[in-house]
Amino acid sequence: MTEQATKTDVGVSQVKCIGCGRTALPDRFRCETCRDLLEIIYPGWEPQGPYGLNAASLKKLWRDRKSSFEPADQSGVWRFREVLPEIADDKIITIREGNTPLYELPHCAKSAGIKYLYAKHQGMNPTGSFKDTGMTTAASFARAAGYKWVACASTGNTSASMAAYAARGGLRSLVLIPDGKISWGKLSQSLDYGAITVQLKTDFDGCVRVLNEVVERMPVYLLNSVNPYRVEGQKTVAFELLEQRGWEAPDHIIAPGGNLANSSAVGKALREMKQLGFISRVPKVSVIQAEGANPLVRSVRENGGEKLIAVHAETMATAIRIGNPASWKKALRVIRETGGEVEQVSEVEIALAKAEIGAEGVGCEPASAVTLAGLKKLVKQGFVKANETVVLVLTGHTLKDADFTLKFHRGDLFEGTPHKAESNTLKPLQRSPLVLEPRVDAVIELLQSAE
Ligand code: F0G
Repeated sequence: MTEQATKTDVGVSQVKCIGCGRTALPDRFRCETCRDLLEIIYPGWEPQGPYGLNAASLKKLWRDRKSSFEPADQSGVWRFREVLPEIADDKIITIREGNTPLYELPHCAKSAGIKYLYAKHQGMNPTGSFKDTGMTTAASFARAAGYKWVACASTGNTSASMAAYAARGGLRSLVLIPDGKISWGKLSQSLDYGAITVQLKTDFDGCVRVLNEVVERMPVYLLNSVNPYRVEGQKTVAFELLEQRGWEAPDHIIAPGGNLANSSAVGKALREMKQLGFISRVPKVSVIQAEGANPLVRSVRENGGEKLIAVHAETMATAIRIGNPASWKKALRVIRETGGEVEQVSEVEIALAKAEIGAEGVGCEPASAVTLAGLKKLVKQGFVKANETVVLVLTGHTLKDADFTLKFHRGDLFEGTPHKAESNTLKPLQRSPLVLEPRVDAVIELLQSAE
């Protein structure tokens, strides 16, 4: 492989079942034989194979692309196209996703009791969530395969992202979301980007059930995260993170768990980076769920992860209000392979962590904040040591759920809930908006009284 590696040199992907290992057709989402999920593999990467990749030359090539003006090079996903499934350049739909910042979080580190804490902020993607990195790949493949319609069930971010990529790619899109259970910001995005948006009178898991039947009967391409092309795009977050750290692995990566595709994607990338010689050590990957939406936590604790215990999900972190996660087996494999943990956090712990991330000038949506809340627990348990380097994957932008933030600061987030008493501990972080007469003195007095 020369420095000029291109995707056509290495384009040798296959779709395979994660259960029985059988090869599948590229536009399927489950194995026709055992119904397990599918994943994309690259047999041509074997060092002895004809396309063995050279990590050193790829590191340079990917860096050089940052100064290119080509749309695919400017994408923080397609910049890494040698480790993605092959596609013709003119089929790529990109809104310049990826290329997200890695922030230090010194105050949150202190609050968690560790020295080195960073946030890989995927909320800084074009539609405000990590979903864009997987949507660029899967929507592009939908277009390449000739589909006119794409669809997803969503807790709000997938739908916002899908609607945007479909619009950019000239595809029609259908969104199924749980009625009244997603933030209005996310709902407004899918309307703005032109999707047909349907609020079903059920929860996310109910939306998935309906959509699975619709795509069986209609020529509509499913863009939920069971789509293996979504996972391929999403995995680039870990390539980019390692690049930002000079290819030095952190000790620990912590991701929120909903449908469990994101953690699966991070783990897949780490596995591939190790295989290809980009890194010599794989960080632990831990997954944090909300207590009210904890099917993976329960399954691990109650049956050792033998089978999924689906739950009726309830949490204010609506993005991860999921009781029957599709990618649980993939995520569990990542947690086991890397030696990570699975943990759950309470509603009040989530609200506190979100406020702390906000107070660093970074901010995130509630579902992302489970990572910091979970880290604190893992430190207390001694699982994460004070001198370890930890990266939190922040999945959504703070503006995704402004309602939550306003209610938090006004002090009425937990009004009428069983968490009201416990939420008194949040008072020191609450900054209710003030109303004053338009007098200079009043503002000066306020400044003088501020600590
Ligand atoms: N964080 C945010 C902000 C999310 O929107 C989601 C999932 C997750 C975390 C969990 O990621 O599902 O890969 O484990 N949102 C989906 C949606 C389900 O429809 O937008 P996961």
